[in-house]
Amino acid sequence: MINLVLFGPPGAGKGTQAILLAKTFNLVHLSTGDLLRHEIAEKTDLGRLAAELIDKGELVPDEVVISMIESRLKKPRSTVGFIFDGFPRTVAQAQALDRLLTKHHSKVSVMLCLAVDKPELINRLLKRGLTSGRCDDLEAATIEHRIDVYNEKTAPIINYYESQGKYYPIQGLGSIEEISENLKQAVMRMSSKPISTLNQ
Ligand code: C5P
Ligand code: MG
Repeated sequence: MINLVLFGPPGAGKGTQAILLAKTFNLVHLSTGDLLRHEIAEKTDLGRLAAELIDKGELVPDEVVISMIESRLKKPRSTVGFIFDGFPRTVAQAQALDRLLTKHHSKVSVMLCLAVDKPELINRLLKRGLTSGRCDDLEAATIEHRIDVYNEKTAPIINYYESQGKYYPIQGLGSIEEISENLKQAVMRMSSKPISTLNQ
């Protein structure tokens, strides 16, 4: 199996690139942000809790997102692997992902980290806020807070994967196509799967 963790700060392009990578390598795309927004749209109890935290730029508790991922991994399906977008967000989530994948006799293949500087992230998110309908993209203060939360709680995950030899930084500036090509090349180099199992 190929299991990719697509990592990076808010606005790095994870969602856009995850969709393209999922298509290229025939992977199931799991975005915890999308799953949480779905809960919000459905007005579930979990959605109500998530909305409060997301609007403030805070993280949803580990056990909530971990159990969302757990239930998706349990679902029987034939796939060559998964692409995790926006998860893990904390070291505890990264450890839980390892435990869950081990249960399924699998593991994280590589963590691809999109690098984008802070002014560009703020620019992109404010621009996205004009059309995304996402409350957390509207105000510069919320966006800055999300980036602070990333630096404090999420960025330490880099060490976690680096110590396992799985950390692969990718330049996140450039055209969508250029970045996508760089990600694809990285997966092909790091993946233990033969090229014949890949889509293109
Ligand atoms: O990944 P994405 O940027 O779409 O996530 C949007 C928001 O959802 C985050 O800012 C955070 O509030 C919440 N989230 C979370 N834990 C995750 C994924 C998303 O708290 N693992
Ligand atoms: Mg996203």
